[in-house]
Amino acid sequence: MSNAIPLAKPSLSEVERQAVLDVLRSPVLASGPRVEQFAKSVAELSQRNSGIPCSSGTAGLTLVLAALGIGAGDKVVVPAFGFVAMANAVWSLGATPLFADCDPRTLNVDLNSVAKLLELKPRAVLAAETFGNPAGMPELEALCAAHEIPLVEDACEGIGGRISGRPVGGFGRASVFGFYPNKQITTGEGGVIVTDDTRLAERCRSLANHGRGEDGSTFVRPGWNFRLDEMSGALGNAQLSRLDEILDQREAVAAQYTARLSGNIELVLPSVEKASRPSWFAYCVRLTGRWNATVRDEVIQAMAGHEISCAKYFPSIPQTPAWQGRCEPNANNTPVADSISGRTIALPFYAGLSSQEIDLVCQSLELMIERATFRHRASPTDQVDGIEPS
Ligand SMILES: Cc1ncc(COP(=O)(O)O)c(C=O)c1O
Repeated sequence: MSNAIPLAKPSLSEVERQAVLDVLRSPVLASGPRVEQFAKSVAELSQRNSGIPCSSGTAGLTLVLAALGIGAGDKVVVPAFGFVAMANAVWSLGATPLFADCDPRTLNVDLNSVAKLLELKPRAVLAAETFGNPAGMPELEALCAAHEIPLVEDACEGIGGRISGRPVGGFGRASVFGFYPNKQITTGEGGVIVTDDTRLAERCRSLANHGRGEDGSTFVRPGWNFRLDEMSGALGNAQLSRLDEILDQREAVAAQYTARLSGNIELVLPSVEKASRPSWFAYCVRLTGRWNATVRDEVIQAMAGHEISCAKYFPSIPQTPAWQGRCEPNANNTPVADSISGRTIALPFYAGLSSQEIDLVCQSLELMIERATFRHRASPTDQVDGIEPS
């Protein structure tokens, strides 16, 4: 048996296996009661009135933006430091993303950067809880409300998190969850939109089902097939029943990483704001601004050589080949995201990662950093970071 330590692993038990098998013994495989129950439960968790199931987080983002009427020629603010799905959802509607820089402490969008982009009259702001950290969401919501611009919360990385007593999924006009298998809980592929706006909910539901109206047979608008199936719904219900247990286990892993790595002067560790209870999606450290992407890449490669999977979460989206030359001219000034994205290392992270494995990851990481920084000791870079280790 391999001793390899993967980057992520879903937490699945007999409860999940039985739930999916039950679907296979039933007559309904596509959308049905399990899917509806799942979306309802996610809405309740988010303290929202409506939950709309969909086939992925990306599909959910696309549906909400389309339901808001966003299309060709429109602009939407998206985080530069985040998963590309946000920019892709905007692009798929013919609209243009305006990339906002990130806060070096929380890794969520920087409020000043968003405020500046609002001058360019975007039709919406899309923002996420990066790695499950809800810091800054209430302030962002207030900023968008003051400018009467809809905030769409990309809650794909934050299920179960809270800030100032409010749940992730409860911010802005609508929120979108995603349940890819690297997430805290999974449905395989899948997503859920939650909102209190009944008309928006109805439009999303229709757009996800070929544009059908409420009678189910009249096509009232063009749309997509972005539906979720019953196997996914059953898996989601079973996973939701274990959400607290899974989040507690992930929090324990994060705490062990923090305890083990906090003395390392070459690393900046994730920070948790007082008012927030993160829902740990990933445990992502970064090299200090003294080092660059070459050093980071060598560390990740050396870790892989020891069968420990790490990842470069996330590239700064405007710097990716997909977006270079495609960005709105003069709109994108994202030095913090550009710098940080070259130095991040997402460590193996999942419920059930053992203390021995955590120890092995940390020992290897520290050794690989020592070796790589020694090799490059003559060429430190001193980049923009915003935070240095204490
Ligand atoms: C912040 C964020 N938004 C959107 C997505 C896209 O979700 P999906 O992969 O379900 O389409 C993801 C992850 O996959 C994500 O992390």
